[in-house]
Amino acid sequence: MDIAYEWRGSFTNAEINPLHAEGFDHPVLIDDDWWSQVSRHSLGWVCARLDGELVGFVNVAWDGGVHAFVLDTLVTGKLRRHGIGARLVAIAEEHARAAGCEWLHVDFDDHLRSFYFDACGFTPTNAGVIAL
Ligand SMILES: CC(C)(COP(=O)(O)OP(=O)(O)OC[C@H]1O[C@@H](n2cnc3c(N)ncnc32)[C@H](O)[C@@H]1OP(=O)(O)O)[C@@H](O)C(=O)NCCC(=O)NCCS
Repeated sequence: MDIAYEWRGSFTNAEINPLHAEGFDHPVLIDDDWWSQVSRHSLGWVCARLDGELVGFVNVAWDGGVHAFVLDTLVTGKLRRHGIGARLVAIAEEHARAAGCEWLHVDFDDHLRSFYFDACGFTPTNAGVIAL
């Protein structure tokens, strides 16, 4: 498969909102302004395209210093398990390192342990979260 990956690649909200809805199993939120959100606040993001269609995405949030955070790793259902997700995260890692970050964080549900630990190279750590 000839997937094109692009760091800080352009995308439209009309492209990402259905991808996010499919990945996280919620209705399409047409008012979510992903483009403004990530272009204002993130270190970057990676887009994956097949024949021009947005088929994968990952957002790299940032503390402005040495910590970056992988969020919203997404691959469209029909193309999962072809290595696209791992490649998206590898590109995120490469650019976070190039930007001077020293730590790349992620959290995830149990069923994705193999994806993040084995395929993406994260190591386990203690972490916590509070639902606000
Ligand atoms: C998580 C997600 C991005 C993975 O993308 P992907 O392109 O399918 O992942 P890859 O093909 O790179 O997976 C590489 C390896 O990780 C592991 N893996 C990936 N998805 C897995 C899953 N759902 N369950 C168990 N292992 C998984 C496998 O070992 C896989 O290798 P294999 O296919 O040779 O067995 C994709 O399943 C997705 O979009 N899910 C819905 C949204 C989501 O939950 N995102 C994560 C938020 S933290």
